[in-house]
Amino acid sequence: MGFQNLKVCAASVISFTWLCLITCASTEPLQMVHNLDTLITNVEQLYRTAYHFQPQKNWMNDPNGPMFYKGYYHLFYQYNPEGPFWGNIVWGHSVSEDLVKWRSLDVALVPSEWYDIGGCWSGSTTFLEGGKPVILYTGITNASEQVQNMVVPKNLSDPFLREWVKIPENPIIVPNRGMDAKNFRDPTTGWFDSVDMKWRIVVGALEGRSRGMALLYKSTDFIKWEKVKHPLHSSESSGVWECPDFYPVLVSGKQGLDTSFVGSSVKHVMKVSLLETGYDYYTVGSYLVDENIFVPDKGSQDDELELRYDYGKFYASKSFYDASKNRRVLWGWITESDSQSEDIMKGWAGLQGIPRTIWLDDSTGMNLMQWPVAEVESLRGKKTVKNNTILKSGEVVEIYGVTGAQMDVEVSFDLRKMEIEEVEEMDANATAQELCSNTGVSYKGVVGPFGLLVLASNDLTQYTAVFYHIISHQNKLKLLMCSDQRRSSSLKDLDKTTYGSFVPLNDPKKIVSLRVLVDHSIVESFAEGGKSCITSRVYPTLTDLHLYLFNNGSSTILCNQLNAWDMKTTDNVYNFEI
Ligand code: FRU
Repeated sequence: MGFQNLKVCAASVISFTWLCLITCASTEPLQMVHNLDTLITNVEQLYRTAYHFQPQKNWMNDPNGPMFYKGYYHLFYQYNPEGPFWGNIVWGHSVSEDLVKWRSLDVALVPSEWYDIGGCWSGSTTFLEGGKPVILYTGITNASEQVQNMVVPKNLSDPFLREWVKIPENPIIVPNRGMDAKNFRDPTTGWFDSVDMKWRIVVGALEGRSRGMALLYKSTDFIKWEKVKHPLHSSESSGVWECPDFYPVLVSGKQGLDTSFVGSSVKHVMKVSLLETGYDYYTVGSYLVDENIFVPDKGSQDDELELRYDYGKFYASKSFYDASKNRRVLWGWITESDSQSEDIMKGWAGLQGIPRTIWLDDSTGMNLMQWPVAEVESLRGKKTVKNNTILKSGEVVEIYGVTGAQMDVEVSFDLRKMEIEEVEEMDANATAQELCSNTGVSYKGVVGPFGLLVLASNDLTQYTAVFYHIISHQNKLKLLMCSDQRRSSSLKDLDKTTYGSFVPLNDPKKIVSLRVLVDHSIVESFAEGGKSCITSRVYPTLTDLHLYLFNNGSSTILCNQLNAWDMKTTDNVYNFEI
């Protein structure tokens, strides 16, 4: 089943009362939502997050058009005002001064014209001359075709940019004859080439049965667009490309760059969201401006689309250049792992991950580094420190002082003196995810598994395990990072897939670090300063929750440092009126 379908189809088992409501929902969604409003407020909101971005209620998917304008961060998002399921898509809109506390505004874009009456789908913002922001988005026409449209702010002096006007020239890009008009969407931020004085954007598309591609368009005025013959990049057998993103990164250094920046000090990143798998993949390479193509670096496994922003849940992401802080920031949509009936009970579905600063890892030149924006640290409250904990084989150690479902944990393990050459050889054909899934937290390795149990009940009947395991794989020592959700909840009908990734490291014989952000139903883990990330969604049914360190490998592990902070709840403001 394609990922798009997952958005629309209902899931299965539920209690009798809810079953009745859901059955009604499939025929009369609007009616149902009204009936549900009072019920939703009575449901204990165990799984609502305290410091992640989510609307007050209903469905949210992709982040759209993030930007910084006149002192405010803007986040638009795919939103269903009618209920906690995909459909009736408009652009929700929120603003923030610090990427942490958000105020929701009225929806910014709603279907109204023949060229978007079927929905205002994903898109991006671009700053044109004079710092004027414009939005390109995909409209679903009255014939169910996908076209690209543009809106401009009604009042540029309003820092909240509350009103947007559809330009009379819409649609500004329509699918050419012979193109698959049902898979032609999600225009990127534009970049300007100062040599030919033209703007460029790419749009995600599908050619034939399975060639996914980023179609390239050029324009002098951002309104009349001409299609470049060949795509900027494409890949056979990858299926539909959604939400492409294309941007420069410095070869060395953490600062972000404006999307138009080119030069010898930069590489380019091409990211696509693959409808078929539901994951975001990226490749690092060179942008050959004159030839209008992107060429992946040698050694980048482009056709296999190996590198992912996140090896858990993270989709349809979008980055933007934050000129106020000179950084590139990445947003990603985090889906639920529960059933649609549970979503209806909760009254909402979908989160945005913590925004991440991204830059190129100059130790490899191949992968990105991703780290929660620094502003998140302003939410840190009481700090618990536990240094130099020796973890013998089979030990589980509670970290007293930090409890509950809102925490930020930074931990490191000193592997410098360990005999890691003696570790077990694992199946050379298995992926990291398969290895994590085949082994898991209770496996007895040589060096690992060791790591954290978060959202853990004190009898350890429930927990989410985020851990490392040093293994030999294809005759190389590798640091395997896993997130195991199998014991995370007693609820049925949850997706409890175990996630895994190899952390790109030359030599794991060092101090290895791990950061985990926990927020009720989301666990976001960052290995080695952001070399690999795994996000998972979990729904613990117990409320007395703890943090533990554990080691299940036969070798003793030294946890040389652990800092954990209770995290505050952000005071988001919904339906903000000025
Ligand atoms: C990605 C996506 C986009 C589309 C939007 C519709 O999740 O399918 O391709 O524009 O969602 O909501």
